[in-house]
Amino acid sequence: MSDAQLQYQSGFGNEFASEAIVGVLPQGQNSPQRVAHGLYAEQLSGTAFTAPRHANRRSWLYRIRPAAVHQPFEPLAHAHFHNHFDEAPATPNQLRWDPWPLPTQPTDFIDGLLTVAGNGSAAEQAGLGIHVYAANRSMQGRYFYNADGELLIVPQLGRLLIATELGRLEVKPLEIAVIPRGVRFRVELLDGEARGFVGENFGALLRLPELGPIGSNSLANARDFLTPHAAYEDLEGEFELVAKFQGGLWRAAIGHSPLDVVAWHGNYAPYKYDLGHFNTIGSISYDHPDPSIFTVLTSPSDTPGTANMDFVIFPPRWLVAEHTFRPPWFHRNVASEYLGLIQGAYDAKAGGFVPGGASLHNCMSGHGPDAASFDRASAADTSKPDHLVDTMAFMFETRRVIRPTRQALDAPQLQHDYYQCWQGIAKHFKRDHA
Ligand SMILES: [Fe+2]
Repeated sequence: MSDAQLQYQSGFGNEFASEAIVGVLPQGQNSPQRVAHGLYAEQLSGTAFTAPRHANRRSWLYRIRPAAVHQPFEPLAHAHFHNHFDEAPATPNQLRWDPWPLPTQPTDFIDGLLTVAGNGSAAEQAGLGIHVYAANRSMQGRYFYNADGELLIVPQLGRLLIATELGRLEVKPLEIAVIPRGVRFRVELLDGEARGFVGENFGALLRLPELGPIGSNSLANARDFLTPHAAYEDLEGEFELVAKFQGGLWRAAIGHSPLDVVAWHGNYAPYKYDLGHFNTIGSISYDHPDPSIFTVLTSPSDTPGTANMDFVIFPPRWLVAEHTFRPPWFHRNVASEYLGLIQGAYDAKAGGFVPGGASLHNCMSGHGPDAASFDRASAADTSKPDHLVDTMAFMFETRRVIRPTRQALDAPQLQHDYYQCWQGIAKHFKRDHA
């Protein structure tokens, strides 16, 4: 099935309604005594029952069997995918990694997940897990759900068909998908191989950021978020249901496909977004606004204006600010930043940061352009615009320090010479001359 054959519903957090068989959705009530076609009604809640109305998320699912029907769960070992964020010291060093290699053995999306960093936990209902995936096989006879948080999937290589309980999403590099906490799904690889990044949000659900003086449009517009229509599988067989629960994996035998929702309505559903639709805002006079203007989605914390996590992108754009050092300047932030490159080049680095690679700059760790990028941008003619075309970096930014995992620190992909990119920055200071 190609993306062109998939039909989506437009909007962010809307009250959607969708039927794979016309007439299934009950009218005027959610849980009638008998549902059409012998289906079962089930509510899936993504927020507390009493969450404020503007933040309240839930959907009603009309399905062949309730989600309760499966064999008991038992622990499932996974060598690389976990939430162990305290096994190595958090480091103030700037870190950068080469892309993770594609597997040589048959590896599906779940097997191919590897945790590189994170903070907080599902138990705290705060924080973020940062994972990479590298796979060469579709999930066969197995389904997955994450009880610990929603999953923000950022493909860097290869298209994914994500078949969920609420419908099918196709996502490709330069698009993202968000799978809500608890929603069951499987991932098919449409190009044989796939690689990308996953943000696992333990905190409040991702939402569109407030726009303040920007007004009622711009950044990511609500209409560009796409949610699938209902699509169900009526399959019997010997399948496996994998759950992530409180940081660990579990498996249960299940005798049917759990993707058996024939119709649903509500506002708790998976969605995708094409990063190319982002309406990028920037200076048209001088200097840089803060990079919060690049925020696509945010998970707020209990402190106003201080995010549990932000998903930020650095898309193609015009740079026109005069008398201004145009690349991202040297800076130190109270927030911590995990930066990944999806495509092209990043304007503050002349080399070493390649698509599929990533860097980590923690709270108050100094970073910014390397020496070559500094020299180039300092000499640039700012009376003329620059057009950045072949680029797409993203950032998971969090209020808490991001703690790399032991496996990420021990990996051969870690660039032990990353600090060298700033060692060539010369002293230009002269006390007696301008
Ligand atoms: Fe930064």
